[in-house]
Amino acid sequence: MSQRAHPDIEKVLISEDEIKSKIVELAAEITEDYGDAGVLLVGVLKGAFVFMADLARSLSIPIDFDFMAVSSYGTATKSSGVVRILKDLDYEVTGRHVLLVEDIIDSGLTISYLLRYLKARRPASLEICSLLWKQGQQPVPFEVKYTGFVIPSVFVVGYGLDFAERYRNLPYIGVLRLEAYGGESPH
Ligand code: PRP
Repeated sequence: MSQRAHPDIEKVLISEDEIKSKIVELAAEITEDYGDAGVLLVGVLKGAFVFMADLARSLSIPIDFDFMAVSSYGTATKSSGVVRILKDLDYEVTGRHVLLVEDIIDSGLTISYLLRYLKARRPASLEICSLLWKQGQQPVPFEVKYTGFVIPSVFVVGYGLDFAERYRNLPYIGVLRLEAYGGESPH
């Protein structure tokens, strides 16, 4: 399907159709791996809400839902990998098969923190499913079992990802024009 991109989008990096196909692939893997045992999807707000909604609707195994909301401390302390929990889980994860659902892994600090945090609650298993992985300079100390797309180090928005809370509703992943964020890298 041809798409007319938002005027603030320099180019569409991953189209709506590409995302849809990838979700079908990921859902098939997840269905195969968990089967009737099912899985607890834990979405990391806010970015993951769009991906999680589509992924969940492609899964035909028993699934439960929970969400966490986190925010990183300032850039000065982000290197410590400490994030602030704004919303904790509603349910116990002890003994459950847990799949953390993210929209993007960038530095990996958020997911590293969440893995430590959740492992301490002794789930039966704990894996990661991220739509995007901005594979960067530094290696990350965890395995991402389900990855949608590895992307270059560009600033992307859409499909849950924002800049200053905008663009989350775009149905594709796009590269934001420099002018749209004032020419300064938002990271
Ligand atoms: C984004 C994204 C991840 C995190 C990845 O969230 O959703 O949670 O950053 O970055 P990292 O690998 O460098 O830690 P953000 O803090 O932008 O909040 P949001 O999901 O509410 O947009």
